[in-house]
Amino acid sequence: MSEKKQIIITGGTGFIGSHTVVEVIKAGFDAIIFDDFRNSKPWILDRLEKISGCKIKHFDVDCNNYNAMSTALNSLQNVTGIIHFAADKAVGESVLNPVKYYENNIGSLTQILKLAKDFEIEHLVFSSSCTVYGEPASPIVTEETEIKKATSPYGATKIACEELIQFAVQSDQKLKATLLRYFNPIGAHPSAEIGELPQGIPNNLVPYITQTAKGIREQLTVFGNDYETIDGTNVRDYIHVVDLADAHVKALQRSIKQEANFCEAYNLGTGKGSSVLEIIHTFEEVNDLKLNYVIGDRRPGDVVQIWADPSKANNELGWSCKYTIKDALKHSWSWEQNID
Ligand code: UD1
Repeated sequence: MSEKKQIIITGGTGFIGSHTVVEVIKAGFDAIIFDDFRNSKPWILDRLEKISGCKIKHFDVDCNNYNAMSTALNSLQNVTGIIHFAADKAVGESVLNPVKYYENNIGSLTQILKLAKDFEIEHLVFSSSCTVYGEPASPIVTEETEIKKATSPYGATKIACEELIQFAVQSDQKLKATLLRYFNPIGAHPSAEIGELPQGIPNNLVPYITQTAKGIREQLTVFGNDYETIDGTNVRDYIHVVDLADAHVKALQRSIKQEANFCEAYNLGTGKGSSVLEIIHTFEEVNDLKLNYVIGDRRPGDVVQIWADPSKANNELGWSCKYTIKDALKHSWSWEQNID
C-alpha cells in the first residue's frame, strides 16, 4: 500500500494539469490522473513518466460519470485531495454551445463534490480564471475586486463553480477549498517534453504565435491596436505554466495544514502586464526570428487590460514566480519545435 498521500488530478494530461502532475510528484505526493483525453493525447502520459521518473496511475474516466470515478476511487487507499482541471475553456465556442459548457464545467464539478463528500476527501483545489473580474474598473485586481456578471457562458461557468464551492464548504465542516484564479498561462516545461497542445486552430495568443513561427499558420492577427493602453494593444498578465503549477502544490500544502474548513480565492499572476506587441517582440528577440503578423480588428469580448495583484498568494501560499516572460517564450518555442 502506498504511504504517500494520493492526489487526484482531473484533466491531468491537459496543459496546466500536466505541468501540475510533475510538480505534485516532485513535492512527494502520488499523482493519480482522471482524464479521458478528449482535449489531449495519451502520449502525454509517457512524457509525464519520463520527466517524473515514475509510473503514474491513470483512469480513463469522464468527470461527469460519478460511477466510473467512484469505481476508480474504490481501488485507491489514501486519497487526500482533488485538483480539478477538467473543463472546457474556449470562450467563442462557449457562446455557440453554452449547454456543453454548463454540462461539462458545472456538471463535472457537481460530481467531484459528491465524490469528495462520499469518499471523505477533504482538500479541493479548483481551476478558476481572472475572467471572473470581467472588465475591471482598474487594471490591477485583488481578490476583493468585484466579480462581474459574465459576458460569456465560459465565464459564467467559472463564477457559478466558485459559488457552488463556497456553498458546499458552508454546508460541509470537512471541505477545504482553494479557488485559483489564473491569469494568462504560457510557456512549457523546460524539458520541452510537455506543453500546450491546442486542438485545431489555437484561440490563445502564444500557441498562435508559435504555430505561425513554425509555418503551421500563415500569419498572426493582432486583435486591435486602438485600445487605451501603452501601445494600443490589450494588456494581460502572462505567467509561466510551471510557476502556475507550483502554486497548486503550495495551495495543497497550505490546505493540509488547516484545521477548519475554508474557501479561499487566490490570484495567480506575476503582477506585471504585457501588451500583445510586447509579447510578439519579446518572442522574436529571445528566439532570434521574425514573426509574420498584421494588425486586425478588435476581438469582441476582449478585456482592455488586466493584471494580478498576487500579494495574497505570495503571502499566504509562500509562492512567487521564478520564471520570466523571456523564459516562458523560449520554452514555448522549444516545445512547439518538439511537437511532430
Ligand atoms: C481568454 C479568455 C479568458 C480565458 C482564457 C482561457 C476572453 C476575454 N478571455 O483569455 O477568460 O480564461 O482565454 O484560455 O476571451 N490575441 C491576438 N491574436 C490572436 C490571439 C489573441 O491579438 O490570434 C490577443 C487577444 O486579443 C488578447 C491577448 O492576445 O488581447 C490574449 O488572448 P488569449 O490568449 O486568447 O487570452 P485572453 O483573451 O486573455
